[in-house]
Amino acid sequence: MNTSFTQQFVVNPSRNLQGTLRVPGDKSISHRAIMLGALAEGTTQINGFLEGEDTKATLQAFENMGVSIDRPHQGQVTLEGVGLHGLHAPDRPLDLGNSGTSMRLLSGLMAGQAFSVEMGGDIYLSRRPMRRVTDPLTIMGAQIETNEKGTPPLKIQGGQRLQGIDYTMPIASAQVKSCLLLAGLYAKGTTCVIEPAFTRDHTERMLRGFGYSVKQEGQRVCLQGGGHLQATAIDVPADISSAAFFMVGASIAQGSDLLLEQVGINPTRTGIINILRQMGADISLHNQRDVGFEPVADIQIRASHLQGIDIPKEQVPLAIDEFPVLFIAAACAEGKTVLTGAKELRVKESDRISVMAEGLRTLGIEAIPTPDGMVIHGGQLNGGVIKSHGDHRIAMAFTIASLCAKETIIIEECANVATSFPNFVNLAQTAGIDIQLKKST
Ligand code: S3P
Repeated sequence: MNTSFTQQFVVNPSRNLQGTLRVPGDKSISHRAIMLGALAEGTTQINGFLEGEDTKATLQAFENMGVSIDRPHQGQVTLEGVGLHGLHAPDRPLDLGNSGTSMRLLSGLMAGQAFSVEMGGDIYLSRRPMRRVTDPLTIMGAQIETNEKGTPPLKIQGGQRLQGIDYTMPIASAQVKSCLLLAGLYAKGTTCVIEPAFTRDHTERMLRGFGYSVKQEGQRVCLQGGGHLQATAIDVPADISSAAFFMVGASIAQGSDLLLEQVGINPTRTGIINILRQMGADISLHNQRDVGFEPVADIQIRASHLQGIDIPKEQVPLAIDEFPVLFIAAACAEGKTVLTGAKELRVKESDRISVMAEGLRTLGIEAIPTPDGMVIHGGQLNGGVIKSHGDHRIAMAFTIASLCAKETIIIEECANVATSFPNFVNLAQTAGIDIQLKKST
């Protein structure tokens, strides 16, 4: 994304967050809705689709493979499924932008196609590790080339016969699990994935929603190849990973009282609520219900005095995308917060351990990075200029930091916020944050 360096957020200290907000649709669920809808038989109607750059990259990829998709309008998308074997060879490499989820999940799907495909992305995605998917896919019989560091672009050779596997994942990753289950749709026999810790289960839930049998016993998930997907309607809840910024914001800004509507509270995603509550946050869930295949609630957050904690290791995969903003919560809390067991943060859209530690230190906070986490001593935040390294969640996390900072915070390289939260600046202003977007050429 070549505009990444040209957008800056200028955020002044503001008082508190008030009102009712609906953050955009869940990114993980939106990707999967396009993928399964495209491969189903019949018409799939999606409501609440995230119109972000990442999910639009997935949508574009399927259009390039011959799927007819009505362009999203106010979160509504209609797709004409082509069936599991109905995709066509794209006439150019698939450009997946900044989106790791698109690339890893598509690797599994593409490995089972009759045609070859090449997939690439922007400079940030091009640094991310892909062997975690290409290794097990190769065991299944896929032919995939990466560059020598195991990073994109990926060249996937079509026409291979895949064989089901029993795979124990070395890391807790929903992307790897989903990739293998999607490849399993095309494989002979049964594909089973065993995860070392529970990770988000949207793929499993949605496959069942499309009428595909998925068996689960504890941390082992299995499916049988050779079935078919039946089109369905999908309601995408608001993304808890986007809500997380406002949950932390309302917790740290004294006097806040904020309601976030229809947020997904799938138990594999609620680490942010569990961790904030343990820090002393005042969070209540109202109107809990199921929307489509997922549980949702309206989340009310009132300001409180957060305390530093040792973050329980089992919460890490359940809050894996929320650590940038949780580090801000820790910086504004009283006492010390310690995170361990989160080495994965080093290979997200940026190295989130070193980038966050650098930013927090710029603002005057003692933040000590460790190989698999961070130690943060809560204190008074000053202002400063922060490099987001093109990482959407770093840019949004430091916007929230302004709620307990003394001076203006300027955040650089913010264009990628549009990958997951296209109307972030607007919603942040509505909630009470004094933020300006500055563009330069
Ligand atoms: C995702 C899984 C997580 C998360 C990413 C989205 C998904 O990645 O960080 O933003 O949609 O499956 P890992 O599975 O690699 O932890």
